[in-house]
Amino acid sequence: MGNSNVRPADMERITTPALAEAFIAEQLAALQTQIGDKKVLLALSGGVDSSVVAALLIKAVGRQLVCVHVNHGLLRKGEPEQVIRVFRDEMDANLVYVDAVDRFLDKLAGVAEPEQKRKIIGAEFIRVFEEEARKQEGIEFLAQGTIYPDILESGPVKAHHNVGGLPEDLQFELVEPLKFLFKDEVRVVGKALGLPDNMVFRQPFPGPGLGVRCLGAITRDRLEAVRESDAILREEFAKNGLEGKVWQYFTVVPDFKSTGVKNDVRAYEWPVILRAVNTRDAMTATVEDVPFALLQHITARITAEVPGVNRVLYDLTPKPTGTIEWE
Ligand code: XMP
Repeated sequence: MGNSNVRPADMERITTPALAEAFIAEQLAALQTQIGDKKVLLALSGGVDSSVVAALLIKAVGRQLVCVHVNHGLLRKGEPEQVIRVFRDEMDANLVYVDAVDRFLDKLAGVAEPEQKRKIIGAEFIRVFEEEARKQEGIEFLAQGTIYPDILESGPVKAHHNVGGLPEDLQFELVEPLKFLFKDEVRVVGKALGLPDNMVFRQPFPGPGLGVRCLGAITRDRLEAVRESDAILREEFAKNGLEGKVWQYFTVVPDFKSTGVKNDVRAYEWPVILRAVNTRDAMTATVEDVPFALLQHITARITAEVPGVNRVLYDLTPKPTGTIEWE
């Protein structure tokens, strides 16, 4: 595995299932040598990188891997359930599921400033993870889904894989099997490890999750409007062949209301903003030209199915001048 943080010059790009199999075989041997009969801890978000690390380590050391999945209440619809189904039920992982929804939402109550929200979510995550780490006996390693762009710190790729900030007495030796891989290579490896397509080809999702899409101070009802509208958008994009084609798409719910009418009654409710963008490196982005009829259909579904919403808008702003996220 080596301690160097430079990808070996002779390392072939992993583009085919056969190359992925070779990488996996090599990593399994290296991981078994590094870990022996000790225990490894991993924060498993369900994102591509941590999921691939989990699948590799389950193959290498089985139940010596302890996966901690923290539900901070800001995950997309169905995500915690999928993590439990894939890893605990299908792969027989040693998975600790932590329902920390109330903790996070209580801490975030009334906090409107975006960077403050991010800080609270990050700090609370470390605290919850630390508590779970202390409950485990004999952990010697901490696995992380670090990938090569994280090491290169290229532009806006956030260092969200690092469970840095753990106290002195909880410093474990790091296990980072993907640290020389680019995202597309991680996906090829994930597929070869048998992970489901919707996990392997998942669009990027920020660490603070839906928290930065429920604008301003987060409330539970508005957070549900973000989650439900996001689920409808994803379902419609999948049905219409846009999943895997559009780089990132999501919904945003601002913290103001406008007047509308529903069933002949005045309805003073939130708008939902749809955003769908394409980019190479997230430094600049263009807006996806979504067919108008599909936008109308998504609008009809969201206004009919999501409580508290009476309007839908499509964000036509490229980056710059807009960022991809709204906060
Ligand atoms: P922006 O909004 O800066 O986003 O154009 C660029 C990419 O980064 C993601 N993003 C984040 N990822 N933590 C993350 O892990 C964050 O706080 C964060 N903010 C933005 C965003 O989703 C997009 O892919």
